[in-house]
Amino acid sequence: IQWFPGHMAKARREIQEQLKLVDLVIEICDARIPESSRNPMMNEIVQQKPHLLVLNKTDLADPKQTKAWQQYYEAQGQPTIVTDAQHQNPLNLVQQKANEILKEKLALRAQRGIKNMTIRAMCMGVPNSGKSTFLNRLVGKNVAVTGNRPGVTKNQNWLKTKQNLEILDTPGILWPKFDDQEIGVKLALTGAIKEGLYHEDDVTLFALDYFRNYYPQVLTEKLGVGPKQLELSDPDLLLALTKKFGFKDEYERMAQKIIFDLRKGSLGRITLEQAPVSATEA
Ligand code: GTP
Repeated sequence: IQWFPGHMAKARREIQEQLKLVDLVIEICDARIPESSRNPMMNEIVQQKPHLLVLNKTDLADPKQTKAWQQYYEAQGQPTIVTDAQHQNPLNLVQQKANEILKEKLALRAQRGIKNMTIRAMCMGVPNSGKSTFLNRLVGKNVAVTGNRPGVTKNQNWLKTKQNLEILDTPGILWPKFDDQEIGVKLALTGAIKEGLYHEDDVTLFALDYFRNYYPQVLTEKLGVGPKQLELSDPDLLLALTKKFGFKDEYERMAQKIIFDLRKGSLGRITLEQAPVSATEA
């Protein structure tokens, strides 16, 4: 989706309507870019509704960083779980955490003799964070969540799970943050931005620089960069790699390969945003 102010206003209105229907908001973000894949509107939402943050795609992210990010958010009072919705069903984890978050509300229901302990929740997140995959896992089947574009209003349906949890069938799509170019680059590297809408070479140069600083083994082991080449500037390194991988002078093809391999996870488990240091030391 390309987001325009009109889209954002409409998404905001729809989400405000949906919020009225639920006990809990489940915000899915990409564990490789926890901050860049969150939406500025979440601050507002958190104040209105209990909220569970999900760091998804942890199979692709750096496990140390995922742990540090989780600790960081939890320390701020933000309940957070980590998932790999592609390969594992997070239902029990979600139910357990939801019960904790909504403990008082559930106790009140019990006190009033209400037998229904069902928690109603909705998933939301920026494009490509894994909302549909996550939702399908929770409900244990392939639900058609197509047409879940902002502006497409439809009837709300509740999807049952095997636990005391019901999920709204339409995940809320939030716009990503655009205020900073680096955020755009990170979203592109994780596959959240469509091809053609970013410059592959800029994005790759950012990645090479990032590897140098945080994951030098990606350069030396995965891409076979020697000590001499490590001293090259990023653009020269990209050219050297282009030759090494047999693309002659077509550096765009090397750039595409790096982006593709990074997204797929074949360069290793990489987080593109380092958790604040206090969290890493904790
Ligand atoms: P939009 O429809 O664009 O809003 O995306 P979405 O948030 O619904 O994401 P979706 O579930 O379509 O997932 C996007 C891509 O990420 C798909 O190719 C999924 O297979 C993949 N994916 C989702 N969750 C995970 C995960 O935990 N690990 C991995 N490796 N891939 C995942």
